[in-house]
Parts: sequence; C-alpha cells; structure tokens
Amino acid sequence: MDKKVTVIGAGNVGATAAQRLAEKELCDVVLVDIVEGVPQGKALDLAEAAPIEKHDARLIGTNGYDETENSDIVIITAGIPRKPGMSRDDLISTNAGIVKSVAKEVARKSPNAVLIIVSNPLDVMCHVAFEACGFPKNRVMGMAGVLDSARFRTFISMEMNVSVENTHAFVLGGHGDTMVPLPRYSTVAGIPITELMTPERIEALVKRTANGGAEIVSLLKTGSAYYAPASAAVEMTESILKDKKKILPCAALLEGEYGIRDLFIGVPVKLGSNGIEEIIEIKLTDVEQAALNKSAGAVKEMVETLKNLDY
Ligand code: NAI
Ligand code: 2OP
Repeated sequence: MDKKVTVIGAGNVGATAAQRLAEKELCDVVLVDIVEGVPQGKALDLAEAAPIEKHDARLIGTNGYDETENSDIVIITAGIPRKPGMSRDDLISTNAGIVKSVAKEVARKSPNAVLIIVSNPLDVMCHVAFEACGFPKNRVMGMAGVLDSARFRTFISMEMNVSVENTHAFVLGGHGDTMVPLPRYSTVAGIPITELMTPERIEALVKRTANGGAEIVSLLKTGSAYYAPASAAVEMTESILKDKKKILPCAALLEGEYGIRDLFIGVPVKLGSNGIEEIIEIKLTDVEQAALNKSAGAVKEMVETLKNLDY
C-alpha cells in the first residue's frame, strides 16, 4: 500500500482498528504496544487472515518506534480502559503519562503525521498529545463524536425501524456525560427526528447516547467498547487518507469558534489530507449553546486538574 498508518496500543480498540484498516485495504499498518509479543502476535495473526480476507495490506507488530517512521497517520489508543464503576476521568493521570511519552516518540519518527487520539479521557488526552508532539492544531484531533453519533444513529434506527443508512446524527461537546446530542440536526432520510418522534422518546435516546460507553462497560464488565470505537477511528482515517473531506464531529482545538477558546472539544470538522481543514460552525439555539458551554466547562476543569498533576 502507498499509505502507512501506525496504531499505538495493540489492545481491543487498537487491534480492531488495525483489522479494519487492513481489510479495507486503506494502508499498511504498524501495530505498537509495550507488551512484548502482543503486537507481533496480533499483526502476524491478522496477516495470516489476509489470503482469506483478500487484502494485500502489510502488517507489522513491534515494541519500538523505528518501524513507525514516516507514518501518514498515527492512531493513539495506548492506555488503560474503563472498568465498571470507573468514569473516563478516573483514567486521567495514568493515561496522560502514557499519551505524553507516546506522542513524543511518534512526533520524532513521523513529523508530518496526523494524530488521531482515542485514549481517555479523550478531550484532555488531546491536550496532552498536542503539547507533547508540537504539531500544528490541524494535525491533532480526537475521536469521540463519530462514535457518539453512531450510537445515536443506532438508537434512532432501532426506534424508527429504518436502515441505519437512512440516519444522520450530530453529537457535539466533550466525550463524557455532558456530551451534546443535537436532535434538530439528527435526521431520518433528511427529516429531523424532532418531526418524527415525541420529545419524550427523543430525550430517552439522547440519554442512552450520553450513557452509551457506560452501557457497554456494564455489560462487558472487563473493559470498554471497541468494535464501534475502532470503526469510528477508521472512518476518520479513511477521510484523511483519501482526502474525502467528510464533515465529521471530532475533538478539535477551538480558538474562538462557538465562543470557546484554547480547548479541545467535539465540533463538526472537515477531514482531508491536511487533517482538520475547516471547523464548521453550525447555528445553535440558546439551549444547545448553553449545553455546549457546560460540556466545555467540564473539559476545562479536567484540563486544569491535569496542570496540577505530575505525569
Ligand atoms: P486495552 O487495554 O485493550 O488496550 C490498551 C493497550 O495499550 C494495551 O495493550 C496496553 O498494553 C497498551 N499500552 C499501555 N501503555 C502503552 C505504551 N506506553 N505504549 C504502547 N502501548 C501501551 O484498551 P482499549 O479497550 O483498547 O482502550 C484503549 C483506550 O481507548 C482507553 O483509554 C479507552 O478508555 C479509550 N477509548 C476511547 C474511546 C473514545 O471514544 N475516545 C472509545 C473506546 C476506548
Ligand atoms: C466509550 O465511549 C469508553 O469512551 C469509551 O465507549
């Protein structure tokens, strides 16, 4: 393949993302993890599936960074996931240390890469990676909105008994309990769901979306979601690799957009070969803007907490 994507963290999200990238034949994949043998074993196993899955993506597993050199995109999933009873914020200091060291190594070997952060707490980890790598803001982003919107779309399609392909949804804000699903901009075959469902049903779907990560954690008991998160990271990767210029909700560094400054938070962006090529400002009602401000406040609080931590 003429494109190369590195996935840091060969755990559930990372290995699943590697599988999807290879099977879609988007790029060669380098899988990195600190545990000896795991990235090598998973990469080899995935490579051995290639003749059956019919792809020619090359997969390498490693515990170092030499093989990651000149990656086009690096997806950072390294860290620890949520366990039952844990919030995303509980992960903050452990994952900050991991993401900081990983982003530094990545930047040294792939100075022109686009970074897609997945590790939680997502919006805060974007700040950590951004500071550690020194890349311009268009080349550092977080994956959350695509996942949260996909969850909202799934619940809309279940409720309306229609194809998921007929659904569209936007979820903005931080990747946490204060995320902001936008029913007015969420549609079935182009029709806003506000015209198709009662406010009570919409509220129930909105709540389920905001609780979507915790719902999976409480079912799995030993970790958090990974199939849908991997799909979401790969959709972002594909838009960048193919310069598709898809509009997707991603965590981006805002500098005044939506009245928010110096904060990574989920907003609609255009993703192309330069990473974030545009931040799309959609008109929000006073209630929606207040919800986004509240979510930004929650992220800002965590960023402040991080400043006082030694990681
Ligand atoms: P996992 O535990 O299955 O995998 C994490 C991997 O990172 C492990 O294999 C671990 O050995 C590796 N790792 C730890 N330190 C490392 C380092 N310094 N360098 C390289 N690898 C290292 O966890 P999972 O389920 O894959 O989740 C990964 C992260 O993604 C978690 O923080 C989780 O909360 C987050 N997540 C975020 C989502 C989002 O929407 N942004 C959705 C799902 C997960
Ligand atoms: C999720 O939303 C845990 O952030 C992860 O599934």
